[in-house]
Amino acid sequence: MRIDVLTLFPAMFAGPLDESIVKRARNAGILDLRIHNLRDWAHDRHRTVDDTPYGGGPGMVLKPGPIFEAVEALKAASGTRTKVVLTSPAGRTFTQDVARELAAEESVLLVCGSYEGFDERVREHLADDELSIGDFVLTNGALPAMVVIDAVARLLPGALGDDASSQDESFSHGLLEYPQYTRPVEFRGWRVPEILQSGNHSAIERWRRAQAMKRTAERRPDLWEKMKWAKPARKI
Ligand SMILES: C[S@@+](CC[C@H](N)C(=O)[O-])C[C@H]1O[C@@H](n2cnc3c(N)ncnc32)[C@H](O)[C@@H]1O
Repeated sequence: MRIDVLTLFPAMFAGPLDESIVKRARNAGILDLRIHNLRDWAHDRHRTVDDTPYGGGPGMVLKPGPIFEAVEALKAASGTRTKVVLTSPAGRTFTQDVARELAAEESVLLVCGSYEGFDERVREHLADDELSIGDFVLTNGALPAMVVIDAVARLLPGALGDDASSQDESFSHGLLEYPQYTRPVEFRGWRVPEILQSGNHSAIERWRRAQAMKRTAERRPDLWEKMKWAKPARKI
């Protein structure tokens, strides 16, 4: 999969995307990641990409010109159908399902906002999608883009040591993950549940599902509400 990123802060991406699973996916050729500086598509000596808002108000707005030119050039360079995604607090919420949608694309271009955000014509006439990573406002779109890249990269076939890991974790079946334990069997007087040491795989699977359901119902009633239809299908 190819992911291009358009940002005013390319240096922010060094580090988080050069470690761990994303690094491995890049090195293995599973993820082709390219970071671009929006200022490379500015036309004046000062490499200006923003201007004051029409109608007045605080802050600056990203001009449409450099973004349209950059996106058009990068789409042509990708050589395939590219999905253009803006990062924005006003976008649809980024979830594991959306990460899965993006992981199925051949090419995604993440456009990071800055200042007060984008000229509306970018939204209306250039973007295919707009994603928010949560109901809070960050300084610019670099961190949201990194969050999206990390979540998508680990879903690409071959990115994790064991692809089953990404199919059996929180949100994968609409539930939070069940409790996990490792050695020692007793730590400060707290024991690992006996069932997990029983070797009875079907009993363990039933216990894990029941725990995942209990945890989801307690902590995330919003997710639990959506899962209700699945309850009669399984006996706990
Ligand atoms: C300071 S914010 C602009 C906020 C904008 N004035 C508003 O009220 O919605 C600058 C940029 O950071 C990015 N950003 C900030 N918070 C975000 C979030 N929760 N999810 C995705 N992107 C975000 C977006 O790209 C945004 O254009």
